Amino acid sequence: MSGRICYIDGDFLPIDQASISILDRGLLLADSVYEVLRVENGTIFRSGQHYRRMMRGLEALAIATPCAESQFSSLCDELAQRNGIEQGSVYLQVTRGATERTHLVPRNIQPTLLGFASSADLPKWKDQGGSVGVITVSDTRWSHCGIKTTMLLPNSLAKQRANDAGAYEAVFVSEEAFVREGASTNVFVVLDGALHTHPTDGRILPGVTRAIVLDLARREGIATKEEAVRVEHLRKAGEMFLTGTTTDVAPVSTIDGVTFGGHAPGPITERLITRFAALLEAETAPAGR
Ligand SMILES: Cc1ncc(COP(=O)(O)O)c(C=O)c1O
Repeated sequence: MSGRICYIDGDFLPIDQASISILDRGLLLADSVYEVLRVENGTIFRSGQHYRRMMRGLEALAIATPCAESQFSSLCDELAQRNGIEQGSVYLQVTRGATERTHLVPRNIQPTLLGFASSADLPKWKDQGGSVGVITVSDTRWSHCGIKTTMLLPNSLAKQRANDAGAYEAVFVSEEAFVREGASTNVFVVLDGALHTHPTDGRILPGVTRAIVLDLARREGIATKEEAVRVEHLRKAGEMFLTGTTTDVAPVSTIDGVTFGGHAPGPITERLITRFAALLEAETAPAGR
């Protein structure tokens, strides 16, 4: 890697000396866009088209513009030139920037712009008998919600929408109208006297708090069902609450601005809030208190 020159926020420097903040949202929440541009004969190919696509992504995500088209194009040229790239690619990435970690989308922060260039003999299929093989896979982009990855851009955008609407949380609903989970919480609903929550089938994150609350509910003799609830049934739910490590057990009183289910927290939610608080205290209080 040594000898390769990269770019970060105004500086060209050896790639092994470059660093970004540990709080950068590109790193923590995948809150960023990128472009890869082709270099042929030491020249960047179609930089304008790449710039315009990047701008569309930045605008869609409300990330500040880090550079004008002319700067983008000279940055790509300079990366290729400083690294002596005749054939290869230039990679550029814009992240929303660094700030205290939050799912909410921060305003007015400085975006991070970084880039590097790579030499490669392209395209490889020319050396591989003139053609390539493919396999087919089902389109699971992104349906691995059971993995706690940092691919949190959709969660962050949803949380911001909730915040803009004066709500605490955004609850994801599937195409088939099933209630999945919140942007950073799991969802519980009391329906026909039983406590329902989505099964841990890969479509939701298996929350630690979810598992604790389910266990508490069972110890309390509350009927539990790990079954997905249809969104239209939320309105007839008696109670609804959210669980999460930094949320604990939060009673829900409105859905899309409409109050439902009478007084929140309802009796089952209230019991579980009390039991959860007691458990938290019991397991964390200093010995002898
Ligand atoms: C998508 C999602 N669902 C649920 C949760 C709740 O999980 P836990 O109780 O482990 O915090 C989180 C927590 O970050 C989350 O990101």
